[in-house]
Amino acid sequence: MASVESSALAIVIMAAGKGTRLKSRRPKVLHEIGGKPLLSHVIAAAAHIVPPAHIYAVVGHQAQDVKAAVAASGIRFVEQAVQRGTGHAVQSAKDAIKGYKNVLVLSGDAPLIQPETLSALLRFHQAHNAAMTLTSAEPAEPTGYGRVIHPASGSVDVVAIVEQNMLAPEQLSLREVNMGLYAFRTAPLLAHLDKLQAANPLGELYLTDMAHVLHAAGERVVAFQTADPNELLGANTIAEMMALDASLRLATARRLMAAGVTIFRPETCVIDAEVEVAPDTVIEPFVQLLGRTRIGSDCRIRSYTVVENCTLGNRVVLLQSCVLADSSIADGANLGPFTRLRPGCEIGEDVHMGNFVEGKKAKLRKGVKAGHLAYLGDAEIGEDSNIGAGVITCNYDGISKHATTIGKNVFIGSDSTLVAPVTVGDGAYVGAGSCITKEVPPGSLSVGRARQVTKEGWAEARRARRHAQQTPDQSER
Ligand code: UD1
Ligand code: CA
Repeated sequence: MASVESSALAIVIMAAGKGTRLKSRRPKVLHEIGGKPLLSHVIAAAAHIVPPAHIYAVVGHQAQDVKAAVAASGIRFVEQAVQRGTGHAVQSAKDAIKGYKNVLVLSGDAPLIQPETLSALLRFHQAHNAAMTLTSAEPAEPTGYGRVIHPASGSVDVVAIVEQNMLAPEQLSLREVNMGLYAFRTAPLLAHLDKLQAANPLGELYLTDMAHVLHAAGERVVAFQTADPNELLGANTIAEMMALDASLRLATARRLMAAGVTIFRPETCVIDAEVEVAPDTVIEPFVQLLGRTRIGSDCRIRSYTVVENCTLGNRVVLLQSCVLADSSIADGANLGPFTRLRPGCEIGEDVHMGNFVEGKKAKLRKGVKAGHLAYLGDAEIGEDSNIGAGVITCNYDGISKHATTIGKNVFIGSDSTLVAPVTVGDGAYVGAGSCITKEVPPGSLSVGRARQVTKEGWAEARRARRHAQQTPDQSER
């Protein structure tokens, strides 16, 4: 097996195009599938082959946005200010690639590409000592792709690639297509790259014409035929992209199912590629698991729940329609339906949070119960405390946020408001309907509400007064 030293190889990813066929203002390579931009998928595959410093993305259309979106990958960028075609994109990268022996050229809009395919292409390229190796396949529907022309049938050698809009009538039946993934030896590529001509209906410089240019110059051009054309599928319309998204997500669901996770109706679930779930967890239809979410074993995630960047322990139950983000949930916790966790929550073991309970930077220690309709923001709640229905931590004074600290075994009666900063000591009780503005010492009872006044017979008397007033009016009508 030939190996390639990383310093001998550069990877160029063409990503400057607008994606006119998408009819979208967003650059094509920033459209997302499987939870991340098309270009990020291609970069991830390329980064398996060479370190990011040897990966060059050609950017042009909305270059700043594209760069910003993938900056964290550490790759380099080449500007193609005006997009004059794929050949022109590679011309823009001339200075970047001239120090390398070989260069792989990829399209930023073919996100399913696998690292194994890139290394297989490289091995084929080197084994044939070619100046240019293109990747070809025979998809069910070749229309729209460039077709590969061999000198004789059965030959790996290539004399030209002919784009769809340049096909002669007798070439329309050709089935072997160019998948847009190439290996070049850099010296012959650079020696002949400027010979490209815009002699086509779009007036573009086609990289595909390098096959003919190099062949005519006596250089060897070969085709590496892949068995699986699906991996090189591009995404030229939003519908095509969503088909890729579905297949990527189904692949993620299959990976999890193969590892012992039960996913009912996996085609209805949206699961990002980096999500991890331990065996014997059950995921119901229409669940979304996003970002860097980690879920333990024996959990049950019920329908319509959305979990983003959260860590769940084992035996966690999320009932229907929870929306959880950037939080952690320990073993045995039971949330929902309709629980909302905003970022920064730490939910302890065996905690129960119920219907319409919202947390933000809330730390609920082991065994806390908050069953109904509460807002717990910037709050810390000790073990086994009980938060009644409708309790609100008033954490915002209009200028800044303040903390509420509740001890262990505390009982906060329903519909109480805790005006932060405020502390409730261990074992204390707060009577229902209280507005708590001062510390509640441990073991005490605080009741902060108006005393109830009862006037017996008042209602009867009022009805009688009203009746007496209304009788003359009605007789006038
Ligand atoms: C290209 C090939 C075609 C092949 C197909 C496979 C050419 C001329 N045609 O067509 O033979 O069958 O891929 O999917 O290459 N780009 C730039 N700068 C430009 C133009 C394009 O960076 O000036 C980028 C695009 O952003 C895109 C990639 O190059 O990521 C490919 O361009 P695209 O227009 O999609 O080429 P196809 O029509 O798919
Ligand atoms: Ca394309």
